Amino acid sequence: MINLIGRIFLEPLDCPFRRVDEIIKKAKEQARIIIVDFHAEATSEKVAMGWYLSGRVTAVVGTHTHVQTADEKILPGGTAYITDLGMTGPMESVIGVKKDVVIDKFVNRIPRYFEVAKGPYQFNAALIDVDEETGEATSIRRIQNYE
Ligand SMILES: [Fe+2]
Repeated sequence: MINLIGRIFLEPLDCPFRRVDEIIKKAKEQARIIIVDFHAEATSEKVAMGWYLSGRVTAVVGTHTHVQTADEKILPGGTAYITDLGMTGPMESVIGVKKDVVIDKFVNRIPRYFEVAKGPYQFNAALIDVDEETGEATSIRRIQNYE
């Protein structure tokens, strides 16, 4: 499992594209199945990473936005891809935070302490089938379960 962080709308860090090349090289000495979690804000950056790693890793899954995308696919070369896995957390919330607090922050533009919301929960994930011999993904399915 490789965790990368994007640079668009986030604190500028090292280039995830250049860095992942080095990490994959090392990972392939130890594993056939390589999952990349790309923690990034911009869908364009995540889509680009999917194409950049197409055929080189088992899966590229996006995280950070907390809203599951409906674009799961198998990229050429057997790389499962989804722009964002979504969120496992409170359903009646603004990406996990008490909705009243976030709405108040937007309406009145006053900093507020973010509290995790309560209530019914949702479970978001993706189920990926992998050919263990080749390390290639053969299918990806979104999971959205609600309490
Ligand atoms: Fe995040």
